[in-house]
Amino acid sequence: MNKKPNLAIVGATGLVGSTFLKVLEEKDFPFENIYMMASAKSAGKTITFRGRDYTVEELNEHSFDDHRVDIALFSAGGGTSLKFSPIAAAGGAIVVDNSSAWRMDPDVPLVVPEVNPEDLVSPKKGIIANPNCSTIQAMLPLKAILDNWGIKRVVYSTYQAVSGAGMKGLGDLKNGVAGNDTTNAFAHPIFGNCLPHIDVFLENGYTKEEMKMINETRKILHCPDLRVTATTVRVPVFMSHSESINIETEKPFDLADVRKAFEAFPGLVVQDDVQNAVYPLAREAAGHDEVFVGRIRRDESVENGLNIWVVADNIRKGAASNAVQIAEKLLEL
Ligand code: A2P
Repeated sequence: MNKKPNLAIVGATGLVGSTFLKVLEEKDFPFENIYMMASAKSAGKTITFRGRDYTVEELNEHSFDDHRVDIALFSAGGGTSLKFSPIAAAGGAIVVDNSSAWRMDPDVPLVVPEVNPEDLVSPKKGIIANPNCSTIQAMLPLKAILDNWGIKRVVYSTYQAVSGAGMKGLGDLKNGVAGNDTTNAFAHPIFGNCLPHIDVFLENGYTKEEMKMINETRKILHCPDLRVTATTVRVPVFMSHSESINIETEKPFDLADVRKAFEAFPGLVVQDDVQNAVYPLAREAAGHDEVFVGRIRRDESVENGLNIWVVADNIRKGAASNAVQIAEKLLEL
């Protein structure tokens, strides 16, 4: 892009939308104009960005008629995205969409910039999908393993923060801490519980979140037949997802080389000094854009097995920061 882009933030009043703004500001992202969009409920509200007040506009069929938006960052739910992303694209924008609506469309790239930036070039529909939060953070260490030793099989077990369920998710945990079991986001009280239930249950007994991790992993790593399984669990943590990832590699590996491969991988930080109780932690990862990996050890039950513990801020790297990184790559094209 050879000019400063016009930006639209769709879902600007939400948890991820407001983090888009925070990250854009931190990165001093260049722009000519920026438009804040949300539902009719928020139209007319004011959002302050880089010291200037912006009035929130209602998203509708004509939102992209006159604004000449170049890049639209969407985080306003799947239904909104299904309807309005093509309208934004028809108006000349490239949409970076945080919902699950377009992720598995073969004509829509699904991108983690450190892992498969090559997929960003010339998106057929003018839409680029931001992967699921739990998938994004797993991709960095898996790509490092894939490139060096190949991957036979992956087993995910996740420990996911309530912020993944937006403002309502945060509210349920805050209520629980205050001794109130009222639930708005989850099927059961989250405080004092672990809920093996994220998104809806499907016919095969998996949750939709689990199938997202499985299918998105295959698409991003370009391994359509990779053997992957997942159990995704909501835990009483406000911010950052933690994941135990068990990997069986194609080729034998040396643990020291695995650690080196992780240290060399962009965006990945090794925190692994168990004698001093150093390993990735949700509270420490919160507010950061890196993915943290530790507990790097052999799975001694199989020939070429590896166990790792991976933590990242689910609203930043798992959503907003990854989308803004995609937008940064678009500027370079
Ligand atoms: P609004 O605040 O006006 O409802 P979160 O995931 O934190 O709940 O945020 C969801 C975001 O998506 C909010 O900014 C919300 O706007 C926006 N949103 C939800 N439905 C629509 C819609 N139909 N059109 C535009 N924005 C929507």
